[in-house]
Amino acid sequence: MWSDNFLKILRELGIEEIYVEREEGREELLRELYNSFKDCKACPLHKNRTQVVFGDGNPYSEVVFVGEAPGEEEDKQGKPFVGRAGKLLNEALKEAGFKREEVFITNVCKCRPPGNRKPNRVEILTCIKYLNKELEVIKPKFICCLGSTAVEGVLGRSYSITKVRGKVLKRKEQRVFITYHPSYVLRNPREYETFLTDLKTLKRML
Ligand code: URA
Repeated sequence: MWSDNFLKILRELGIEEIYVEREEGREELLRELYNSFKDCKACPLHKNRTQVVFGDGNPYSEVVFVGEAPGEEEDKQGKPFVGRAGKLLNEALKEAGFKREEVFITNVCKCRPPGNRKPNRVEILTCIKYLNKELEVIKPKFICCLGSTAVEGVLGRSYSITKVRGKVLKRKEQRVFITYHPSYVLRNPREYETFLTDLKTLKRML
């Protein structure tokens, strides 16, 4: 996708419409992937879930936002980040210049942990193959980790979020940007500005 600046220049040159030929088929690949694990029972999280919550959004996005695991509302609706944390994320994305429908949002674990507890190491390791496959299909320029569970899943080890927040780390050829989890920002509203600044930084880097 092109930057707002580039599009502005094209508009100033009088170019109003652009036809883009792009590689097709990511929707289909994701559909096949999701079909392959909609009945997954590989870890105990399947026992309490209503449904598996797949990633959602634009499979051609240059950025994939990764959260922890579905909460109550996500488990009910079958979509990531549709509860209170999702509302905050939507607001911040908009303010930073992202359109939610233009990005892709997913989680490290695809089933809701009971009582919204943090997924444990075994659950993360069991589920991570699905996130890895989503990332293989989407091939984003940036993976944006929302909070420490996302960092642990994506980078395979824990980091102190305060040390890596706002930074870009590498995972093979992919760049990984790290910021807070929106639930943390809900509990600590004073961190909203930092969260927003991070998202704006990410937007500028695309
Ligand atoms: N909703 C999600 O989908 N993921 C989270 O990590 C939190 C809320």
